[in-house]
Amino acid sequence: MAVSATPAFEVTATKRRPKTFDELAGQEFVVSTLKNSIKNGHIAHAYLFSGPRGCGKTSAARILARSLNCEKDKSGEPCGECDNCKSISEGASLDVIEIDGASNNSVDYARQLKEEVLFPPQAGRYKVFIIDEVHMLTTQAFNALLKNIEEPPPYIVFIFATTELHKVPATIKSRCQQFNFRLISIETIQDILKKVCDENGINAEDDALFWIARESTGSLRDAYTLFDQVSSFSGGSIRSDLIREKLGLVGLEKLNALAEACAENNTPVAFNLMDEILSSGVAIEQFVIDLAGYYRSLLLLKNGVTRESLLGYRVNLFSAQALETFDSIRLEQALDLLLDCYRDIRYSVSPRFELETAVSKLSWLSQWVSPVELKNALENAQSALRGQAGAPASGRTVSPAVSPVSRNVKTAPAAASVPLQPEYRPPAGARSLSEDFKRRIANKAAGGAEDEEDVPLWDNVVKDNNEPADGVPSQVDRLLKMFPGATIQSTTE
Ligand SMILES: Nc1ncnc2c1ncn2[C@@H]1O[C@H](COP(=O)(O)OP(=O)(O)OP(=O)(O)O)[C@@H](O)[C@H]1O
Ligand SMILES: [Mg+2]
Ligand SMILES: [Zn+2]
Repeated sequence: MAVSATPAFEVTATKRRPKTFDELAGQEFVVSTLKNSIKNGHIAHAYLFSGPRGCGKTSAARILARSLNCEKDKSGEPCGECDNCKSISEGASLDVIEIDGASNNSVDYARQLKEEVLFPPQAGRYKVFIIDEVHMLTTQAFNALLKNIEEPPPYIVFIFATTELHKVPATIKSRCQQFNFRLISIETIQDILKKVCDENGINAEDDALFWIARESTGSLRDAYTLFDQVSSFSGGSIRSDLIREKLGLVGLEKLNALAEACAENNTPVAFNLMDEILSSGVAIEQFVIDLAGYYRSLLLLKNGVTRESLLGYRVNLFSAQALETFDSIRLEQALDLLLDCYRDIRYSVSPRFELETAVSKLSWLSQWVSPVELKNALENAQSALRGQAGAPASGRTVSPAVSPVSRNVKTAPAAASVPLQPEYRPPAGARSLSEDFKRRIANKAAGGAEDEEDVPLWDNVVKDNNEPADGVPSQVDRLLKMFPGATIQSTTE
């Protein structure tokens, strides 16, 4: 049963599999609860360990199995020295049976298990079944198992582990003590990697270890795997620039330069930088991921988030110019369009065209106007036309759907004194169909002969003082001032 062949190189994840609860990083709640229950002899028949990949579920299950059968220690931790601890560690114990739910998911297997359960443990107090990836079991296999968990002999302990808790039937869940494993924080992972470097005499830049920790998104196994990959090409000295070069990543300096070009609406420079980055061997998808990550960080920074673990880099490394030029709305839009770009790349005729479109749009980002801003501007124009003091477009206030009058009262306290209009009064600049024209339509509708004579379409324009129009009304003047560069052409009927 035991695997005895020793590989020439043992991966860090295996080498550093925790042997005691105290070595299990970032799962304090799980650890203290399990240790206490063992100390107090409160052993459940079934445990369910759930959580993201590579955060210690299988390791914890093995530690628990050892702890349950340890001959010496009663503190909750396995001693690691007694025969039981040793044989379980070596995978030689007949009392701890590890089953992979993914490959042994049949009902036959569950029945076999049922028979296995009838035999008491050989050396230890408990016979422990560790069923990994338990969500992969078939419904029938689950049903066959249920009976075991319902009334197992007192020496049986099941430990189920799963990354997909929602796929485990409620009937199983309700019979288990559940433990949710958490993602491990970047800081914790970085500290652990530092320790690994110290132990192995490896030099490593803090930034490089930080990058590995961040990339592993909370999974220590992923962190170890990436660490092994990086150290294999780093030759004893782990550096950020080498990682970027070897793994084809876009560095922060390049992203800053690109964002600055965009801040200046300088599309040619932005395109050149993009080309430079792609020519250096960065894949298009990776480029989009890095760029999206960059704009996300700017958005977080803009909103006062300064935690390095969230931003990915130290605050002072981001371009001040980009930060100054773009506000939250523009940054949101940038992130939005890059996320769209990433989705579109898969289905596109040319991923590169998608990226170029995105970069081109980014270089006009500072000019981009959001629908909310446009709505505010229009509302201002509307209230100016009504002769009311227009509420200045206030950042990104989204007004509830209420009538224009009450909305104005709400957003512009100064305008509250403006009397609400009791009856309809045509706004300044309003025009109405001329009487002649109306007559002509009525005549035609009644089957009358076509009238060849030209009639004016509109009647007079109403002004503030209800006098006939004789030029551009003053309210239109005000409107024009709100949209610099706009002109109104008079139409002749
Ligand atoms: N919390 C942790 N503390 C210390 N090491 C850990 C932790 N989580 C993971 N590791 C490291 O990652 C390796 C894999 O961990 P483990 O098998 O326990 O993860 P898992 O949660 O069962 O993952 P999966 O869901 O993929 O089965 C371990 O050998 C260990 O080196
Ligand atoms: Mg596992
Ligand atoms: Zn022991």
